Amino acid sequence: MSSIESFIRGLPKAELHLHIEGTLEPEMVFALAHKHGMALRYPSVQALREAYNFTDLQSFLDVYYAGAAVLRDESDFHALTWAYLCRAHEQGVVHAEIFFDPQTHTVRGVAIDAVIGGIRRALLDAERTFGMTHRLILCFLRHLSAADAMRTLEEALPHAAGIAAVGLDSAESGNPPAKFAAVFARARRQGFLTVAHAGEEGPPDYIREALDLLEVSRIDHGVRIEADPALVQRLVRDQVPLTVCPLSNVMLKVFARMEDHNLKRLLDLGLCVTVNSDDPAYFGGYIAENYLAVHRALGLSRADIAQLARNSIHASFLSAAEKSVWMGKIAEFVATAQRA
Ligand code: ADE
Ligand code: ZN
Repeated sequence: MSSIESFIRGLPKAELHLHIEGTLEPEMVFALAHKHGMALRYPSVQALREAYNFTDLQSFLDVYYAGAAVLRDESDFHALTWAYLCRAHEQGVVHAEIFFDPQTHTVRGVAIDAVIGGIRRALLDAERTFGMTHRLILCFLRHLSAADAMRTLEEALPHAAGIAAVGLDSAESGNPPAKFAAVFARARRQGFLTVAHAGEEGPPDYIREALDLLEVSRIDHGVRIEADPALVQRLVRDQVPLTVCPLSNVMLKVFARMEDHNLKRLLDLGLCVTVNSDDPAYFGGYIAENYLAVHRALGLSRADIAQLARNSIHASFLSAAEKSVWMGKIAEFVATAQRA
């Protein structure tokens, strides 16, 4: 392993933009399909992986929702989440904030208790086993109606103690944050924090709506913000974090090549940029591969990489005391690496 690779993997960091359904590796698709006696359209694991050739967000979402159909019971959600947490731990993730999409499962007749129960059991296992902390974020599918999102929120309320925030994902274009203003207002009244995907494929105005109407703490993606300099200034001033997902952006053709990605420019503008993996089973890498890809393509220095890790802790929903512990550990890690 190169020295930059071991620096990246060893650096304590938080992952803040991770769809648990997007960690479903082809091997697990086949194992779960076999367990449940389901037929798959692909003859082999390799054939399935080779089908991961996307032209845009929607072309990915079609494959992603089809894959999630093999998740049927509590132990499936536990196995999925546990596999992700083990890989994240190996790559230096000390705190994970995880999205899940309940509507993808409840529409197939899977009980929300099985979904949340399995995910939470794995999160608690990781806390006991690795000392890894977590927050769980319930995402509404924005291509569905606001009424469906409101029903989903009501259904999740008995589990509110285990859910830190609500988010908004799925097909962005034509589904503005405004559509979900009432749902998010209800969620905030129930004590949930809020986040939203905005400015991935959609315009900067969706970022503004997410801030003004949904009162989000962070913007997921947000890379299209550059087209609106006044909005950039506002996010720099308020230090609203962006959870950027470089490999995802290239796989979904938001940027043609990693060399064209604007992450370094956004960082240099003073935005609180973080690096995350989005749907790592589909996009060719987990968090360390995302850090490494931007290091290689954009020439990020070790100081830039350490800044991204500090940003991830700062942007997390950890307490101020927990954040200060991890900032100290990052400083210690960087100083030790400099001496080596
Ligand atoms: N759901 C899973 N990954 C997503 C992404 N990158 N954008 C929107 N919705 C998603
Ligand atoms: Zn996402």
